[in-house]
Amino acid sequence: MCGIVGFTGGRQAAPVLIDGLKRLEYRGYDSAGIAVADGGKIGVAKVKGYVKNLAELTHDGADIPGTMGVGHTRWATHGVPNDINAHPHLSCDGRFAVVHNGIIENYAQLREELTRQGYEFVSETDTEVIAHLLESVYAGDAKKAVMKAFSRLKGSYAIGILCTDGSGRIFAVREAGPLIIGLGVGENYFASDVSALVQHTKNVIYMEDGQFAELTPEDVTIFDSFGRPVERKVSRVTWDVEAAEKGGYEHFMLKEIMEQPATFKATVEPRVVDGEVVFENFSLTDEELHGINHIVITACGSAGYAGQVGRYVIEELCRMPVSVELASELRYRNPIIGEHTLLIVISQSGETADTIAAMRECKLRGARTLAIVNVVGSTISKLADNVIYTWAGPEIAVATTKGYTTQVAVLDMLAIYLAKRLGTIDGARYSHLVEELLGMPAKIQRALDLNKNIEELAESLSYHNDIYFIGRNLDYAVCLEGALKLKEISYIFAEAYAAGELKHGTIALVEEDSLVVAIACYEPLFEKTMSNIEEVKARGAKVLAVALEDNKKIFTKADEYLMVPRCEPIFTPIAEIIPLQLFAYYVARANGCDIDKPKNLAKSVTVE
Ligand code: G6P
Repeated sequence: MCGIVGFTGGRQAAPVLIDGLKRLEYRGYDSAGIAVADGGKIGVAKVKGYVKNLAELTHDGADIPGTMGVGHTRWATHGVPNDINAHPHLSCDGRFAVVHNGIIENYAQLREELTRQGYEFVSETDTEVIAHLLESVYAGDAKKAVMKAFSRLKGSYAIGILCTDGSGRIFAVREAGPLIIGLGVGENYFASDVSALVQHTKNVIYMEDGQFAELTPEDVTIFDSFGRPVERKVSRVTWDVEAAEKGGYEHFMLKEIMEQPATFKATVEPRVVDGEVVFENFSLTDEELHGINHIVITACGSAGYAGQVGRYVIEELCRMPVSVELASELRYRNPIIGEHTLLIVISQSGETADTIAAMRECKLRGARTLAIVNVVGSTISKLADNVIYTWAGPEIAVATTKGYTTQVAVLDMLAIYLAKRLGTIDGARYSHLVEELLGMPAKIQRALDLNKNIEELAESLSYHNDIYFIGRNLDYAVCLEGALKLKEISYIFAEAYAAGELKHGTIALVEEDSLVVAIACYEPLFEKTMSNIEEVKARGAKVLAVALEDNKKIFTKADEYLMVPRCEPIFTPIAEIIPLQLFAYYVARANGCDIDKPKNLAKSVTVE
């Protein structure tokens, strides 16, 4: 939610900032702006809409002189998207420019206080209070002003500050919002995501909550909230800039769909050693593991739907009760969770506000925590007792694809791993499942290749206003994600229902030419799903079936179909979601939607 960049060096800052913003745009895209200091004056350019509008306005930054500055791409919280509410915001004296991600919870009180002191507000944002607050506490030392202002702010935020007090410094402040420092040669940077830094440097520092940083072209110092320098922990980014570029595809989403055989392999293969699943730094002892009597999975959005797949697989293999809880609900539910609970937290970004809050709540109650996270160094990865990274590489499209399949990959591996340690799986089945999992990248590739007509098919069905997804057991878990993908990027009403629930309400909505996507790969319940297909067809619905490629029976019943390669049954969801991702993609494309930047959504929801 909102992207932040900062730069200080010996070259013109504006083009660097705009390039960084383009790479962060998936975090928010309703307005964009930069502020650059040039000889004691701050030049600002900001505009409603995409970063490309800002680039056009400033000729890719060429019009704005100066060698240090900050930039922002916005996902509005306080105040509508317009040029005035766009960041950066300036102090009245023009000494400070501020960009901000997150929410200042006490902004109303600060705004009143500062207004009484005579500061004039021009925007509706909470961010503007920071700029005026900085001016009000400034007494000749920018670092002290940052520290003082920091101590007055409540909420969760990441802030970038530009100050023209002549010393060539920019500041970054972190309190529960992602912020990363990039270390260059003769220049330094900060950004809310590594993807804005990798084209400049692979040496980064992940800031922690309650820290602020002072950046000059030559040096970076990190301080705690009392202004005491803290040790810098430099990490190395392991992926290249090409990983965060489109690589010839029309959209990041399509590129990321196509990457899935490779990302799945990258997640699984290094963790199978001599036929055994091994996890790095998995610290639960056998005694602790046997003391666990309940697994709770918590997450938001697609990560939660990956958790739904995980629930079936873990329960099946480990014979342990598993519940999947929406993080936004769990955090406020006074949950019955204690030291015998293993909490599995799933998050691509590792920064989702509700997921973090739910995790903190459960940790307070004594739960052991295991995080499945993609972004290295993210908040959730740091909070967890154990972390398993999905190693999917940067995911840029707002609608997750490879993020989801790699989360399912880890959950499948975890189920196999835990089953062995708990003694609920025999050796032959264990070896078989490990072997099958290693074979899944080829199955994903086949799922990509099988449905040659999918673009045409999606186009022909793209006129529907509402689409129902039905399935049972693992197929139902996949329905949830398939429907979410479609609604996120095509804005078509799409909802998933357990097929067995049809008769309890949903069937009332089915009429002539309704489109029902029936996922029917789970063979033990195939006949039951077939009955549901008959029922909706009897009421005039058109059925798009998603079925195993060798299942002849369904092809005689369905109006249209998408094929899935035969896999080990518990791993079928991984192949099943592929045609549904493609279907959502091509429906959205046929309807002219902005696929990588769907309206009102953001990749990483760092506010509640
Ligand atoms: C947003 C994204 C979704 C994602 C969800 C959870 O809503 O648009 O794609 O599933 O957040 O994000 P996380 O980073 O925690 O997986």
